[in-house]
Order: sequence, then structure tokens, then C-alpha cells
Amino acid sequence: MKPRKIIIDTDPGVDDAMAIAFAVAHPGLDLLGLTTVFGNVAVQLATSNALKLLDNFNASSVPVAAGASRPLVQDPLPHPDFVHGQDGLGNIDLPDSERQQLEMEAAHYIVDSANRFPGEITLIAVGPLTNVAAALALDPELPGKLDQLVIMGGALDEPGNVSPLAEANFLGDPHAADRVLAVDWPAVVVGLDVTHKIMLYDSDLKQLSDKAGAVGEVLWRASRFYVNYYSSTGAASELPEPGCAMHDAAALAYVLEPELFELVHGATRVVTEGIAIGQMTMNRKGYTYLLPHWQDLPATGCCVSVDAERVKSLFLDTLIAAA
Ligand code: RIB
Ligand code: CA
Repeated sequence: MKPRKIIIDTDPGVDDAMAIAFAVAHPGLDLLGLTTVFGNVAVQLATSNALKLLDNFNASSVPVAAGASRPLVQDPLPHPDFVHGQDGLGNIDLPDSERQQLEMEAAHYIVDSANRFPGEITLIAVGPLTNVAAALALDPELPGKLDQLVIMGGALDEPGNVSPLAEANFLGDPHAADRVLAVDWPAVVVGLDVTHKIMLYDSDLKQLSDKAGAVGEVLWRASRFYVNYYSSTGAASELPEPGCAMHDAAALAYVLEPELFELVHGATRVVTEGIAIGQMTMNRKGYTYLLPHWQDLPATGCCVSVDAERVKSLFLDTLIAAA
């Protein structure tokens, strides 16, 4: 089968680095390009991280287009350097790339690529949805030109990771997330309901360092800071050994093997103000409510359960086989 054309919109980020390595390594995926967005780090750093990760993953022919430096409406939030390190990659001092980003900016790159390969591209968004919302504003016909949009973000039943209700990517730009989910495209959300169940333990990450060559070594080193962060949180006491959530790579696993995930569907909104800002809310019963906010909106799919062991094996085996 022809590899599936993908673009990853990303804010690297340690778990973003894992997702990019996965995309490069899997023979069923054809990584056309990366677009970058603020989030785990400022957009300039996200762009230089994207370039240097691709170089380290033997994918220096893959272009990078830089995107939004701030959310559509709200003031930017601080970057979580206590989670991903000052450099966004666990403070491992990867050398800078000698390559430059494209002159074309991210939203234009997404629209341009969709026009070049109509119906063929899966856009995988693993940062705040600002670039996706900007691409949609540039070309309202974009949803019909993509094969699929797969989003890592949000939480339905699982508590949030940046507030009791909100997940980081959706809180990063709640207005963009709400705009994107209001549109009728084949969109699937891979949120904390599943990504918190796919834990990569140190014994898994060590396998990468032992068996996945230079790429595995970069991921092992980058994950030290990230795993330490997880170990410092209350959730660590529930883990059998130190580890971290897979997050962004789970969106790629959904693209590759959607049968490993169970979904619910419904009109979906993201709260844009107040104490619940960033919360994803779905009308999964299709009720007609007193408040109109979920009325006449398309249904979005949201993953609610996952075969975590098989997703983890898919990720580890892919990286090991490619080494
Ligand atoms: O909530 C997890 C998401 O937030 C991931 O995309 C991670 O990289 C951070 O940006
Ligand atoms: Ca991310």
C-alpha cells in the first residue's frame, strides 16, 4: 500500500520528538513536512527543534514551516520549561541544524499542500490548534481537501493536565480549538482519555536506547527530564516504575491502527473563558439542550479507550525495526 501522506503540526517538546521519530521510522507514513507552533516552547525554538530533530532522525529532506507565535485571542501562557526543559527537549544540547525553515508560513504551507494533494493528506496536530484555525481561515474549503485531521488534545472524562478540566494543547489556544472543532471535517481527537493510559516506562525507553540506534539514544536522553517531571507529580505514586505519558505519538498510532482505539461522537465545543477555560465538552447523547451551544454542529470523534499495550508495541517495534 502507498504510504499515507502526513503533515505534523507540532511544538517540540519531548513527546513531540517521539512522535516525529515514529513518523520518520514507519514505512506506512510519508512525512511531507512539519509545521511549528508555540506551546511547549516559543515558536522560534519549536522551529529550530523541529529542524534539529529531523536532522538527528536522518530526515533532513523534510521541510519545516514556522507558524503562530501566540494564540488567536487570549494572552499567551508561560511555556512549561519545568516539563520539557529550557530547550524543550530535556536540556540535551542537540546541535543546531544548518538548515533553514521554509519562507512559506505554516498555515499557507498546510493549505498549499492540501491543494497539491487533494484528499490525500492527514494533518496531525499535536500542539495548540492556532495554525489549523489559521489555515481554515485562509481556505474554508480545507476540510474537504484533507483525508483526515487527527488532533492530540483535550480530555472528556479524564481530569485535565493543566487544570482539573483542561488539557495543555486546548488551553494553549481554546478559541482556535473551538473554531476547529465547529467545522465539518473528518476530525478525530486523541486526548488524555487515552494518552494517559499509554505510559512509556523507563524499561520501555531503555529498550529504545539499547536497540533503536542513534534515534533511540536521543529519545532516551531527552526523556530523562520529562520522566523526572512525571516522577515529581502526585500521579507518580500510581506508576509501577518511572515513566511518562506517550501523548503525541498516540495520534500517529491512531492514524496507523485506528482499530486499537474506541471512539464516541458528538458535537464538541471548547470552553473559551472562566474557570473551565480549555475544557472540551461533547454532546455525546445528541440531546437537544436548553442552551444552544452544541446545536447544529457536526459530530467529532473522540477516543475514549485504547489497547495501550499494542499501541506501545507499535511505537517501540517501529523504532527498533528502523534502526
Ligand atoms: O497535553 C499533552 C500535550 O501538551 C502534548 O502535545 C504535549 O507535547 C504538550 O504540548
Ligand atoms: Ca505537543
